[in-house]
Amino acid sequence: MTGTLTEPTTPGTTRPAAQDGDAPRSQAYFQQAQERTAHNYHPLPVVVAHAEGAWMTDVDGNRFLDMLAGYSALNFGHGHPDLVAVAHAQLDKLTLTSRAFVHDQFGAFCAALGDLTGKELVLPMNTGAEAVETAIKVCRKWGYDIKGVAVDSAEIIVAGGNFHGRTTTIVGFSDDPDARDGFGPFAPGFTQVPYGDAAALEAAITPNTVAVLLEPIQGEGGVVLPPTGYLREVREITRRHNVLFAADEIQSGLGRTGRTFACDHEEVVPDLYVLGKALGGGIVPVSAVVADRDVLGVLHPGQHGSTFGGNALACAVATKVVEMLATGEYQERSEKLGVLLRTRLEGLVGRGVLAVRTRGLWAGVDVDPAVGTGRAVCEALMARGVLAKDTHGSTIRLAPPLVVSEEDLAWGLDQLEAVVTGA
Ligand SMILES: Cc1ncc(COP(=O)(O)O)c(C=O)c1O
Repeated sequence: MTGTLTEPTTPGTTRPAAQDGDAPRSQAYFQQAQERTAHNYHPLPVVVAHAEGAWMTDVDGNRFLDMLAGYSALNFGHGHPDLVAVAHAQLDKLTLTSRAFVHDQFGAFCAALGDLTGKELVLPMNTGAEAVETAIKVCRKWGYDIKGVAVDSAEIIVAGGNFHGRTTTIVGFSDDPDARDGFGPFAPGFTQVPYGDAAALEAAITPNTVAVLLEPIQGEGGVVLPPTGYLREVREITRRHNVLFAADEIQSGLGRTGRTFACDHEEVVPDLYVLGKALGGGIVPVSAVVADRDVLGVLHPGQHGSTFGGNALACAVATKVVEMLATGEYQERSEKLGVLLRTRLEGLVGRGVLAVRTRGLWAGVDVDPAVGTGRAVCEALMARGVLAKDTHGSTIRLAPPLVVSEEDLAWGLDQLEAVVTGA
């Protein structure tokens, strides 16, 4: 049975009723934000003022279960006490030097992240897109300096349906019209092949190919899982053709899928890990490219940089993030809670849901368009005290913080079930 979207008959237990006579304060905040910013987002009409763990509270005191976790930037939840403590302590000591000088948090962070990934060198940046740009530059430079590709001829293979960020180079190799239309001309040097098709990827390799850049799971695409064995085949093909494998684990990495990296599910080690989001603990933007010396060693002073990349506050927080991941506790939680997520969602297939894809505590849910658009489903969830995000029409992405309790997760899934089945 599929449902139609209605207001919940009983208000979410976690949401206090609005006080009589009070106009919701969120309306004024929302309107001001809409009037004074570029409309490059279409946010749900919620105005958050406070958050802790997996829960957010809006300016009117309504509580919402966060089922998005900042697109996985909040894997450890909002305001994780250990991360906040490290940030507070570092704020009192040193925040930024620029890379013109070395600070006391820098080496420790690079060593910790290098150890977590099993790689020799770490190049810290800030946002995910910057890390992807960094990886592209490093792969091209490696192609010219090490592989011997002729000047300005380097080619990088990317996948259909990719999402690697929003810079002009990156949107230039996207196939999403919203991401690219109106922003050309674009940088040459990228070849797109269908995601999940190893034979097509191998056929696209030329003597000028320097790298394959892939998301091991396509997050923005709707949590699209490649066929089993694909990543291992890509690893084998790239090795055979002397081509680098750059894995964009910005969204899939750092515990989200039940392993430290999504590549771990196939025991694949790429040449470059491209990381971001959760690396900053939900507190500061921290991204990084991690690789061995024979790859990252191609960069020399003056060839790449960032004023804020690897700043002391970022490094202190990110070192703590790596320390937390090194225990394996969060990966285990993700795997365990992921079983509940998968079981409950699979139970909705044929009942308002057409298909689900999950890995760890991460899911793409294709809602039956008869129920409503993804946006309408998210609005109905919001009315029940759950915040999630649609992508590409009728797909909902679920990525609760890994610290969510089993009980809260089950409650959030009850709300989804009620919305899609109309129960
Ligand atoms: C796989 C992937 N790469 C890159 C990015 C870009 O990261 P940022 O928004 O921090 O620039 C994202 C963001 O969603 C992503 O999911």
